[in-house]
Amino acid sequence: MTNSKKTQIHDELITVKSLVKRFEKKQGTIFRKTKSTVHAVNHVDFSIKKGEILGIIGESGCGKTTTARMIMRLTKETSGQILFEGQDLCQMGERELRRVRPQMQMIFQDPYDSLNPGMTILEILMEPLHAHRVELSFDDKRKLVIEALEHIDMKPAETFLYRYPHQLSGGQRQRIAIARSLILKPKFVAADEPTSMLDVSVRMGILQLLKSLKEDMGLTMLFITHDLSTAAIMCDRIAVMYRGDVVEIGPTNKIIYNPTHPYTKALVAVVSDLNYFLDHRSELILDGEVQNEGEQGGCPFLARCPQQMDNCRIGIPKLEQMSADHYVSCFHHHPESLMSANKQAN
Ligand SMILES: Nc1ncnc2c1ncn2[C@@H]1O[C@H](COP(=O)(O)OP(=O)(O)OP(=O)(O)O)[C@@H](O)[C@H]1O
Ligand SMILES: [Mg+2]
Repeated sequence: MTNSKKTQIHDELITVKSLVKRFEKKQGTIFRKTKSTVHAVNHVDFSIKKGEILGIIGESGCGKTTTARMIMRLTKETSGQILFEGQDLCQMGERELRRVRPQMQMIFQDPYDSLNPGMTILEILMEPLHAHRVELSFDDKRKLVIEALEHIDMKPAETFLYRYPHQLSGGQRQRIAIARSLILKPKFVAADEPTSMLDVSVRMGILQLLKSLKEDMGLTMLFITHDLSTAAIMCDRIAVMYRGDVVEIGPTNKIIYNPTHPYTKALVAVVSDLNYFLDHRSELILDGEVQNEGEQGGCPFLARCPQQMDNCRIGIPKLEQMSADHYVSCFHHHPESLMSANKQAN
């Protein structure tokens, strides 16, 4: 292997290739049961470079959490690959996964749900150290817990050790959840809407904490949010998901200042100033209904797209490069890929 190839592999901590998740859903009455398939994640590709924060944004149900859960091995993929430092997690047995798991942690949306109410803060923060058999004495583990509490600005740390989650505010609980995810010094953290359940007044503090921890510990992060302005503050690059597909991915500046997919344009318009929104209103309004699976062929965004062309019914657009690091799946911007879809359809 050449040196340049080696460097390339080590530049990327996580690479997701053609990742798919389908859920089978049973519906109907006791007399007549039907099965339907939810295409939660459709052949998604992206990578996350070491030290980078990649955001995933998109509306409810577009597959953000399912993507993160597959990376964390909490949900099994239907097909695809998830490379962690070049090794495919999907092919690993339980023994190998046990070695990798401490290096990957997840922060969940709901700090009220994610902490065991019957455990003290000391027990909650010691649990990962016990679970991964860190060979330290009780006193040394306790020292690590105190350091972790100081790191998340819960000082004096000793005053929190014997409290229970219900004695803390929502923001403090989320800080504890963050400390728990970082106590094993992971390389990778997936944060799934970590501030959406919190009071607006404490959100910025949690975002700043995550950013500074990321810098201090050299973390690599997947950051999931509904909210483009939060993604703009937090992320180096942003992937926009729509109904299980990544429809646009690129550096944060390009997504914010040069949104290209009509869905990204609509997301940006919602948070931009009102004048921009009024000037571009006719192009941006999303007035179509979201279809159920199997209702249409062609581009998944078709019915809501203000730029749709007849030809967009012919095939499903793929992510194509717009400029360095910026990819978009839209026939409007890639008429050449429309021609190849046209050929396949004939
Ligand atoms: N365990 C499951 N069983 C069946 N369907 C599921 C399951 N988990 C998720 N889904 C479905 O998969 C799709 C994607 O869900 P997912 O939770 O990944 O979306 P999301 O983008 O995280 O949404 P939200 O912003 O609401 O958290 C949805 O249609 C959802 O109903
Ligand atoms: Mg979710």
